Amino acid sequence: MTTTDGLSTITIRSFLTPGDERTLADDVLDGLTRPFKELPPKHFYDTRGAQLFDAICELPEYYPTRTERSILVSRAAEIAQATRASEVVELGSGTAEKTRILLAALAAAGTLRRYIPVDVTESMVVRVADELTGLFDDLEVHGIVGDFERHLEHVPAPTDGPRVVAFLGGTIGNFTPGARRRFLRGIARLLRPGIDHLLLGTDLVKDPAVLEAAYNDRQGLTADFNRNVLRVLNRELHADFDPDAFEHVAFFDREHEWIEMRLRATSRQRVTIPGASDLVVDFAAREELRTEISAKFTHERLTADLDAAGLTLERTMTDDAGLFALSLSTRPLNLKVPSVE
Ligand code: SAH
Ligand code: TRP
Repeated sequence: MTTTDGLSTITIRSFLTPGDERTLADDVLDGLTRPFKELPPKHFYDTRGAQLFDAICELPEYYPTRTERSILVSRAAEIAQATRASEVVELGSGTAEKTRILLAALAAAGTLRRYIPVDVTESMVVRVADELTGLFDDLEVHGIVGDFERHLEHVPAPTDGPRVVAFLGGTIGNFTPGARRRFLRGIARLLRPGIDHLLLGTDLVKDPAVLEAAYNDRQGLTADFNRNVLRVLNRELHADFDPDAFEHVAFFDREHEWIEMRLRATSRQRVTIPGASDLVVDFAAREELRTEISAKFTHERLTADLDAAGLTLERTMTDDAGLFALSLSTRPLNLKVPSVE
C-alpha cells in the first residue's frame, strides 16, 4: 500500500501471511514439549501486549526507557553529526517514541529523507507512519510489517545517503547469546562498510535489586504482560489456558547476567491446544514455563558480540549512573561479515 500526502509518502508492506499462525503453532509444539517448557517472546506483542508494554515503559521501576531517552536527548545531535544519516531502519520500532528524538536531530542537520520501521505489530507500523509523516515534512516512510528474524531481506536497498540501523530498548537482550550473534550478523548485512552505522541500545549489568524491580513492578503490569502470551495462545490456537492459574516470576540470573521471566502454574494444569496439532500439555503444580530472557551487558560482552558479527564499536554513550548504553558501530572496510550460518 502506498499513499502520498503532500511531499510525504507512506508505503507499508506486510510479510506476515496467514501461514504465520503456523510459526506460532510450531513454536508452541516445539517449546511446550521441551523438558523445560518455554515460548519465544515475540508472541507477547499482539495489540493488547503492545499497549501493556507501552504502559510498562512509563513505570517508575522500569528505568530503561527513560534512561535511553535521556541519552538520546543529550547525544542525538552528536549521532546525527557522526552518521550524516539520510535514512533510519528501525527494528522492533514499536511506538518509535524515542526514535523521534533522533529523527528530529537528523532533520535539523538536513540529512533525513526516509524512515523504515520494522515491527510484527501491524497497527503500530501504520500508526507510526501516520504520526511521523505528520511530524516531519517530506519524510518518506517505508513500513515493514514482519518478523525481524525472518524478513530483513525485505528492507529496501539503501538510497544515496548513509543509513543508520537502530535497534533500541535493549530488545537485543531478548535473544539467547548464540542467536544474538547470529542476529547481529544479519544486521551487519544491512550495513555498507565504511558508510552505515548500527545504533544499538543495551541495558547494563547493575545492582540485582534495581534489575529485579524493573521486571516486578508493584502495579503488576509486567505480570499482566507476561500472562498475555497465554491469552494469545487461547485466541490464536484455541488453547484453554487459565491465565489466572499462572503467576509471574522474574529474577536476575547472576551467572548468565540476564533477567529470566517465567510463568509458574499455581496448581496442576492440563491444557489442550487444538491449533497446535491438538497438543495436550500437562503442568505439575509449581512447574515453570520460561517466556523471556533479557540479557544485561558489560562493555566486554558488547564488544565481543559485535566483534563476532564483524562490527566495530565506534562510540558508547551512557547516562551518568551507567544504567544503559547506546552504541554506534560500523562494518569496517576490508572485513567480511562472518558467514557461518
Ligand atoms: N523500540 C521500542 C519497542 C521495544 S519492545 C522501544 O525501544 O521502546 C520490542 C518491539 O519489538 C515491540 O514493538 C515488538 O512488537 C517488536 N518485536 C518483537 N519481536 C519481533 C520480531 N521477531 N520481529 C519484529 N518485531 C518484533
Ligand atoms: N525488551 C524489553 C526488556 O527486555 C522487554 C520487556 C520489558 C519485557 N518488560 C518485560 C518482556 C516483561 C516480557 C515481560 O526489558
